[in-house]
Amino acid sequence: MKDSTRLVTLGRDHHTQATGDTADFVNPPLVRGSTVLHDSVADLRERVARRNAGADGPPVAYGIYGSPTHHAFYDALTALEGGYRSWAFPSGLTACTMAILAYVAQGDHVLVPDSVYFPTRRFCRDTLPRYGVTTTFYDPRIGTEIEALFTPTTRVLFLESPGSHTFEMQDVPLLAAIAQRHGAVSIIDNTWATPLYFQPLKHGVDVSVHAATKYIGGHSDLLMGTVTSTERAWPRLRETIHHYGLTVSADECYLALRGLRSMGARLAQHRATAEALIAWLKQQPEVERILYPADPADPGYALWQRDMTGASGLFGVVLKPSITQHQMATLIDGLQLFGRGYSWGGFESLLIPTSVERTVSPLPGTGPIFRVAAGLEHASDLIADLDQGFARLRR
Ligand SMILES: Cc1ncc(COP(=O)(O)O)c(C=O)c1O
Repeated sequence: MKDSTRLVTLGRDHHTQATGDTADFVNPPLVRGSTVLHDSVADLRERVARRNAGADGPPVAYGIYGSPTHHAFYDALTALEGGYRSWAFPSGLTACTMAILAYVAQGDHVLVPDSVYFPTRRFCRDTLPRYGVTTTFYDPRIGTEIEALFTPTTRVLFLESPGSHTFEMQDVPLLAAIAQRHGAVSIIDNTWATPLYFQPLKHGVDVSVHAATKYIGGHSDLLMGTVTSTERAWPRLRETIHHYGLTVSADECYLALRGLRSMGARLAQHRATAEALIAWLKQQPEVERILYPADPADPGYALWQRDMTGASGLFGVVLKPSITQHQMATLIDGLQLFGRGYSWGGFESLLIPTSVERTVSPLPGTGPIFRVAAGLEHASDLIADLDQGFARLRR
């Protein structure tokens, strides 16, 4: 089946399990709950034994293991990613941090790209050392030279491709293969590509993480992170999830699954709008460079074309070094349609100045940078808004 058909059909088996009715509603029932009642002691023991034997789906013994609503979403995501199991977390950040924690212990070492989402970086920089875990940040464009950064204690290679502010593509299959040779687990933040356009586990990665807050939710009304892993990587992840008691509400899984249904159609529009904005931006004399791996002029284009089947609507704009931060703020401050707000992947366009921390690799330019999340408004209205912004900057 093609992707659009899969988005519509995946995760629909749980409805009948929940209600016993075969002529069922299209959407899963919203099953909230902590307590699950059992018919007998034998039934209770059987459900616990099932879980202890590795079962993750319904029937479960307690709400923390997920209701049919949770598992409808998990099943759909697992199928899209081509993984073994998935789970949801209260935010994209928790999914990143807990995925790393699952595989490290005192004395271990992790490798993280310099371009990583800042709060993930901060966790590695400030929190992991408290548990005796050290981090080496590496240039995201690194290739085989990463070999030299592995130590006997390296347990995790973290990837984010492309980086969500500076948009460097990583050679994911190469890096994942090297991690595997060193006995390390590879974890990727796959949020930009979405599970539709890149399936990292098929390229040798062990764990794929999403901020479902972005394109999966798609409506800026959900905070959620997800992990999907291979069978080999799942036991440690599962143990961490259950030992820390990590779960989200059924309402959130309901929203995430609803978001998935329309994600393909939304992404096509986000990309078309991004490309229209990029074509216009490239004509502005103040623009030095566009950061968008699906643009043939981007240094990451060859990797994007090789590994991904599509692109989302988030990109960066590097202004000429002669433009000041103050001038860029003048452009941004008067925008009417572009919101000045964090996050991305919702229906609304957003535009923020880029500020990142780098320690081992250069920024993609010396001028000010801003990031655009192309929403679902009409491109010509967005261009008119930008046009006025550039006029303000020139004044
Ligand atoms: C690439 C990336 N990963 C993870 C996150 C974290 O997601 P959340 O905001 O749900 O914690 C973000 C949020 O902006 C992000 O851009």
